[in-house]
Amino acid sequence: EDYAKLPPRPPVVTIMGHVDHGKTTILDYIRKSSVAATEFGGITQHIGAFSVPLVSGKKITFLDTPGHAAFETMRARGANVTDIVVLVVAADDSVMPQTIEAIKHAQAAKVPIIVAINKIDKEQAHPDRVKQDLGRHGVEVEEYGGDVQTVLVSGKTGQGIPDLEEAISLQSEVLDHRADPEANVEGWVLEGTTKKSGKVATVLVRNGTLRQGDILVAGTTWTRVRALRNEAGAAVKEIGPGMPVEVDGWREQPIAGDEALQASSEQQAAQIADLRTEKLERLQMAKDME
Ligand code: GTP
Ligand code: NA
Ligand code: MG
Repeated sequence: EDYAKLPPRPPVVTIMGHVDHGKTTILDYIRKSSVAATEFGGITQHIGAFSVPLVSGKKITFLDTPGHAAFETMRARGANVTDIVVLVVAADDSVMPQTIEAIKHAQAAKVPIIVAINKIDKEQAHPDRVKQDLGRHGVEVEEYGGDVQTVLVSGKTGQGIPDLEEAISLQSEVLDHRADPEANVEGWVLEGTTKKSGKVATVLVRNGTLRQGDILVAGTTWTRVRALRNEAGAAVKEIGPGMPVEVDGWREQPIAGDEALQASSEQQAAQIADLRTEKLERLQMAKDME
């Protein structure tokens, strides 16, 4: 099929950076300012992944730190869950060990970086120092002749956040990601948890449209989807490419980084899951015998 004829999908953006540099604060600001504008009235469930609509009507999907484990597993398997990395660097702290780690991950995965220089509201903020320090670690920002965009933001006051969304939007237009809403569902498990209601997973749909009643296999577990919930905890009937969703009804708790694929029947799903379980058990036995 002609790729250019497929509809665009939202870019998937992973927020990375050193501890306490403000990743969650920035995401909370983006989430709140968008959730406040919807009917869900601000009751957000933190699932570490959410989508926001822009003024243009386009959407951006964001993954927070809980996505990192999944990000790493998927990268190790040669798949990139993320299209863009937003590297958060606190303007008062500059480049720190986990900033350098994040740069290495993004570069290894060949994912473009947008730098959010955060905490710009602070008196001790030195954004120029951050830009120079980044250059010493292989991130050449536009101001120094490179091609990496930087945006000055404050997760606390919201200053610069619209510019960050704009930078992501522009980058995503260049990348031009598309997906087929009619294809068999393919996705990634970002998180697996066990709740009172049972075993659930946050799934990022990569291709196809996931609907209530669909059957998914992920690793050694499977589900016939009873309910789909968005990041606000609201039930949704279906979810398309580039969007995260909470999926319930899993036999076992899904594992972050596993691929979730649509099966044609419960029987087929159970068979695939069982074969994988047996294979894992055989591998474990062989290991134990060593
Ligand atoms: P980890 O997930 O633990 O790695 O941290 P994080 O990067 O998500 O940072 P978090 O959002 O938890 O923020 C760390 C601290 O910095 C909190 O006390 C925030 O209130 C504060 N903070 C975050 N952004 C800003 C900002 O723009 N300005 C100021 N002044 N403080 C901020
Ligand atoms: Na923190
Ligand atoms: Mg955080």
